[in-house]
Amino acid sequence: MTSARSFGNYDLAAAIADLIDNSIKANATRIWITIRFNAADPLVTIVDDGDGMSEAELHAAMRPASTNPTEERSPDDLGRFGWGMKSASFSQCRKLTVLSRQYGAASGAVWDLDDINGWSMGVLSSDEVAQVQDEHLPTDHGTEVRWSNCDRLSEGGRISSDAFNELVAHARRTLPLVFHRFLEGKAADRPKLSINLNGQALEPFDPFYMSHNAAVPLEEETLLVSGAPVRIRPHILPHYSKLSDTEHEKLGGNEGFLRNQGFYVFRNDRLIVHGTWFRLAKYGEMSQLIRIGVDIPNSMDEIWKITVDKSDAQLPTPLRNRLRQIVDGLKGRSSRVYRSKGGRIDRPGKVPVWSRYTRNNEVTYRINSEHPIISSLLSSGEGPLAATVINLIQSNFPVSAFVDDANLRPENISQTVASRTEMKALLDVTIPSMLIANDNDLSAMIDELRRTEPFSANWPMVKEYLDAKGWK
Ligand SMILES: Nc1ncnc2c1ncn2[C@@H]1O[C@H](COP(=O)(O)OP(=O)(O)OP(=O)(O)O)[C@@H](O)[C@H]1O
Ligand SMILES: [Mg+2]
Repeated sequence: MTSARSFGNYDLAAAIADLIDNSIKANATRIWITIRFNAADPLVTIVDDGDGMSEAELHAAMRPASTNPTEERSPDDLGRFGWGMKSASFSQCRKLTVLSRQYGAASGAVWDLDDINGWSMGVLSSDEVAQVQDEHLPTDHGTEVRWSNCDRLSEGGRISSDAFNELVAHARRTLPLVFHRFLEGKAADRPKLSINLNGQALEPFDPFYMSHNAAVPLEEETLLVSGAPVRIRPHILPHYSKLSDTEHEKLGGNEGFLRNQGFYVFRNDRLIVHGTWFRLAKYGEMSQLIRIGVDIPNSMDEIWKITVDKSDAQLPTPLRNRLRQIVDGLKGRSSRVYRSKGGRIDRPGKVPVWSRYTRNNEVTYRINSEHPIISSLLSSGEGPLAATVINLIQSNFPVSAFVDDANLRPENISQTVASRTEMKALLDVTIPSMLIANDNDLSAMIDELRRTEPFSANWPMVKEYLDAKGWK
């Protein structure tokens, strides 16, 4: 049993998730989780209103490897190894108490790694269960799992309350993601699940943000692997300009969009792996809005190499080629969404401020000397000096700083004409020389404005200016 402490790579959130799996399997609709710091001697309880266990079932469930992993599981079972409850619990604590009621009959059992009587399981009478149970354990059916003497969770009693709170906060962020379909009531053939953590309900967190009108779900595809269906559903997240700061922060998660792109693998509607490319693609700036949902049934655990802690899986070889094609096809779409705000700078027929040149795979950006404002400066009395200044600016653009920002903080780059005042000042300067260049033909001048940056991209503001002057 002590060896089970090192099965899997559980953190607090993953350990609790493994117990929630069991509650869901037992048809629970409500789960209450309590995590108390208790002066660095933490106590954790997970209570559900599921079917519960009879005494015999409970005693069997307490056994290590209580079921054979090769046994066929019902299609909605989130378990596999017959270890989860034990390995998840002992990854955090030394004493595991399980209380359960079925048809009103209570039973309880305890494993204590420090038990001086050696290898024996403690058994609780129904009166003892009633005395020690959490207030939420239902009187008819349900189960309570309790962790005490949490040496791992408390880092040997040395954990600070701040570090402990961070673990709880991490669980509060992770569980709504892992079980979001259950919390939304969208898991197959399941009523809506409610999970309460320290008195607060968890709100589902959909990593694809399907409820947002700018989220783009793409065509779903079903592939057969060894006769079992794998459903692939790619999504392109909304561009950050379409999200509020809070939405953006939440959707990016702790590690940001760059780190959370890639595949999201759901096993029986429960998220097991997220934000990985399975080495099919690189984490890149242009693909950071891609999240691909992959749905697998529990009959494929062997092929996907599902781990005891349900937090890792490997991509089966027969899927690699098709998934790689899907990913390659998506990259173009994602980068279009990603770039759409500023627009491409080299669109034909537009007059950009910056032009992009490529030669022999080498890319250069130069300030466009044909842009009306720039060309009128260049043909003015200060022309030669202006040409030198422009040259100086374009050849000293801070490329590496920009690349870093574009990769790490794209959402913080702000590069648009922001205010009406700024736009008005630009137009005040531009229009007189543009009119001259167009032989005082007002509509030709307006046509040129419409093609010219930054006016083209901010046309409503420009039109307001022109309307105010009575120019059509
Ligand atoms: N909350 C619960 N309600 C009812 N039965 C439960 C509950 N938790 C555990 N059980 C029973 O205990 C058994 C053992 O659970 P455990 O998590 O150790 O293994 P498992 O779920 O079968 O497989 P896995 O190792 O993949 O989690 C379960 O199969 C289930 O029958
Ligand atoms: Mg389990």
